[in-house]
Order: sequence, then structure tokens, then C-alpha cells
Amino acid sequence: MTERADDADRSTAGLWITFEGGDGVGKTTQATLLEEWLSGCGHTVVRTREPGGTEVGTLIRDIVLHHRGDVAPRAEALLYAADRAHHIATLVRPALARGEVVIQDRYLDSSVAYQGAGRVLDATEIRDLSLWASEGALPDVTVLLDLEPADARARLDADDKPFDRLEAEKADFHARVRAAFLSLAEAEPGRFLVVDASRPAADIAEAVRERVMARLGGVRAPH
Ligand code: TYD
Repeated sequence: MTERADDADRSTAGLWITFEGGDGVGKTTQATLLEEWLSGCGHTVVRTREPGGTEVGTLIRDIVLHHRGDVAPRAEALLYAADRAHHIATLVRPALARGEVVIQDRYLDSSVAYQGAGRVLDATEIRDLSLWASEGALPDVTVLLDLEPADARARLDADDKPFDRLEAEKADFHARVRAAFLSLAEAEPGRFLVVDASRPAADIAEAVRERVMARLGGVRAPH
């Protein structure tokens, strides 16, 4: 984990990897492939997600994703931030302090991309809220799986998964989410790895492994 400059004294031993991207881009598949590879190399891996990585988070996830009817934009942003605050404090930081590898589906970049795409809230405000919630924690590696929203939609339809509230939003919303993710990646090239998610899963997994291997210096090296 890296910290913002004002929190730089809190060093951690483990490695923290997040997966980001729109709905239906294959985050879960890639997180699973990475988890299997790292576990096979002898690392202790904690697999988690936002929202919903903890017991409290599961309750919050139910509100933000399954509540019928509107949730005010600021309330929604605070709910994601509340989930995040509890998740980072009680699960992610302790695992990293033990020197473990944390593989996480979604983090604050999702808040900036999704809550920002609603056009009501400002991206910087959302990011600052999340950084306050997590006491400045930023992942070592963030993999952005980038895919044309229409392709992602087709995958979700093929999976025949019921839509949650956000997945059912309009196509232009998803186009804004995608653009927001890409500009976040552009702003932090050191943290982000952007992968074309239309490539075969095995090729994507290889690109992810390469980036993770490059960052494994501080953790036990794979054999
Ligand atoms: P995800 O768990 O990836 O969905 P699924 O389990 O259905 O594949 O994400 C759930 C939704 O939550 C997704 O549409 C994006 C949204 N989300 C936000 O809007 N803001 C956030 O901060 C996070 C973490 C997720």
C-alpha cells in the first residue's frame, strides 16, 4: 500500500492489488486467476471486494445496490465511503500489516467513476471523501479492465445475470464511467495498469502477472 504524503509514516509490508472497470468487464475472472497464481507461488492471499468486503459492508451493499427507489447522491457516496472506511480499517490494513497480498474487486476509483458519472458530485470531492474514509490508503497496483460498454452489456446479457440498480442505468452513463476510469489511469500511470478487456482472459492474466511480479520485491518472491 502507498499513502498520501501526509500519511507516509504508516508503512506496510504486503501488496495491495485492486481491479477496476465497468460492469461485465471480467474483474472477477481476472482476480480469481491472479489469486490462484499467487497462492500457487506460496503467498497468503486475501480476496475481497467493495462494497461488501465485511459483515457491515454486506449490509451497506444491500442498501446501495438493492434498495428500490432513489438514494440521494451524497447519501450514496457516503454509504460507499462508510463501507470503505470499515473495510480498510478492519480487513485490508491488518492483512497488509501481516505481509499478505490483498486482491480486491473495486476501490475508490469506482466511486470517482460511478458517483462522478451521475454528474451531481464533483470527482475531486468524491476522491477526497474516500481518502478521508481510508486514511489516505492507495493500492500498489490497480488493474483497469477497459471495455466498450456495449461489449460489456453483451457479456452480462449472455450470463443472464439479473441487473442490479446501477447495471440497469443508461448507456451514456456507462460511457461516462469508462471515460472517467481512463482519465484516472492517465493521471496515475505508476499505480494503474490498463488492459484491453476484449483480449483473451489468459493474455490479460499474463499482463497482470507481469505487473504484479514487478511489484513483488517487498513481498516473498514467487518460485
Ligand atoms: P460489483 O460488485 O462489481 O458488481 P457485481 O457483483 O454485480 O459484479 O459492483 C457493484 C456495483 O457497485 C457496480 O455497478 C459499481 C458500483 N459501485 C459504485 O457505484 N461505487 C463504488 O464506490 C463501488 C465500490 C461500486
